[in-house]
Amino acid sequence: MAKPKTTKTKSSATKAPAATLFLFGAHGDLVQRLLTPALYNLTRDGLVGADLRIVGVDHNSVTDAAFRDKLANFVRAQAAKKAAKSDSQPLDEALWQKLAKRISYIEGDFLEDATYEAVAERIRESGTGNAVFYLATSPRFFSVVVERLGKSGLLKETDGNFRRVVIEKPFGHDLASARELNAQILAVMDERQIFRIDHYLGKETVQNILVSRFSNALFESFWNNHYIDHVQITAAETVGVEDRGSFYETTGALRDMVPNHLFQLLAMVAMEPPAAFGADAVRGEKAKVIGAIRPPTPAQARANSVRGQYRAGTVNGEKVPGYRSEPRVARSSNTETYVALKVMVDNWRWAGVPFYLRTGKRMSVRDTEIVIYFKPAPYAQFRNLGIDRMMPNNLVIQIQPDEGMWLAIQAKRPGPTVEMETVQLGFSYADVFEMQPSTGYETLIYDCLIGDQTLFQRADNIENGWAAVQPFLDAWAGGGTVEPYTAGKDGPTAADDLLGRDGRSWHSLA
Ligand code: BG6
Repeated sequence: MAKPKTTKTKSSATKAPAATLFLFGAHGDLVQRLLTPALYNLTRDGLVGADLRIVGVDHNSVTDAAFRDKLANFVRAQAAKKAAKSDSQPLDEALWQKLAKRISYIEGDFLEDATYEAVAERIRESGTGNAVFYLATSPRFFSVVVERLGKSGLLKETDGNFRRVVIEKPFGHDLASARELNAQILAVMDERQIFRIDHYLGKETVQNILVSRFSNALFESFWNNHYIDHVQITAAETVGVEDRGSFYETTGALRDMVPNHLFQLLAMVAMEPPAAFGADAVRGEKAKVIGAIRPPTPAQARANSVRGQYRAGTVNGEKVPGYRSEPRVARSSNTETYVALKVMVDNWRWAGVPFYLRTGKRMSVRDTEIVIYFKPAPYAQFRNLGIDRMMPNNLVIQIQPDEGMWLAIQAKRPGPTVEMETVQLGFSYADVFEMQPSTGYETLIYDCLIGDQTLFQRADNIENGWAAVQPFLDAWAGGGTVEPYTAGKDGPTAADDLLGRDGRSWHSLA
């Protein structure tokens, strides 16, 4: 089929300003797996140039050349692997060299003053006072590094230069620790300098939710409790906990995915239209809607949540061990690898509309989606036609994989009698747009360099997210059941009952 025609209405982005980007935790997985490929893609697209210098900071003792080689080997292998699987290109060596010659390394302990002196020296040599400090470290270093940067004067913005700090997730472990971390970092810098990352906001389809909602009068007119019955948000993964057993043991699915990624999706779907597409207006509306999630009582929190943990099973045709047999996981662990919640948003738009959220590891498929279920059309006029039931419309916003949007509507099946069939109106990103390979971090790094905080979490966004999950954490702290589910299945049956009690069922996974 020919590609449908599109009409562009966006102006093109311009190159980011000169800066030095310091990657704290340079030897970690994030730097090689996501940040370096993202910087390569930004170089390919001309969005960063020769005036962006990249400096890895970590305690390992390696030369600049060895650090560059390590990154090169990784991105080369990653590009080759992707090229073997699809029609994407292997690494463009000339382009990589352009980027690589701007990469250097500082060996240093995050607790030592000497590290920050070396950072200051690198800024002096760079020819620009602009600097971004990206904390791709273990969370225990977040406040330590920020405090040292502050003490060394590195966060002071003078002569029109910017100093910004990017902080990865997890931002806190619960409401109290998130508040404490915010207080610590806000003691040494301004909110305007802080870029708290939620990588879901780097995904095209997540950004598209706002554009689709607010640029199409069609959607906005029925986006409320008069027409919407309920909303389902799912992030299903096929991977297990991989090599992150010790992190996951103290985290679990709720903390890992809900206050951040799933609430970002909920906020995009449920927020009021911002007055402008600027950071303050967008983040203000998000904070309001997350703040409007009704805090359940302990009994409601227990009744409206399901925890699960995967047992051994088969995923994508491969036998996989149960969670309790994963490395660095206690054999009697009760950490949840699956969670389903029902939450209510107490405002005029959403009163009475349940939001069902679920996320789990080792499920049957990888599928992140939002499904908006509309109320059914009145049945009376079809009664005399022998039609026994009418399927309500639903809108599926497919975040990943196979990004796109599909609206299920009823149509008459051709023939002499009136018979209905559900058909899909929709578009798939891959069919309509040329998509360059991307990690999702490109937009986030670029936005940080140009100082646009729209896609980053403000202190109140983070704290409201934790405040909304805290009642569930508190209710679970007193015990309760963690339901087993077989790896490769779609979570425990108790999660089906959560919706079944309301006369509803989960959207089947792709
Ligand atoms: C991370 C979680 O934030 O998001 C992981 O810590 C999870 O446990 C990952 O696997 C999911 O991200 P994505 O982009 O693959 O949906």
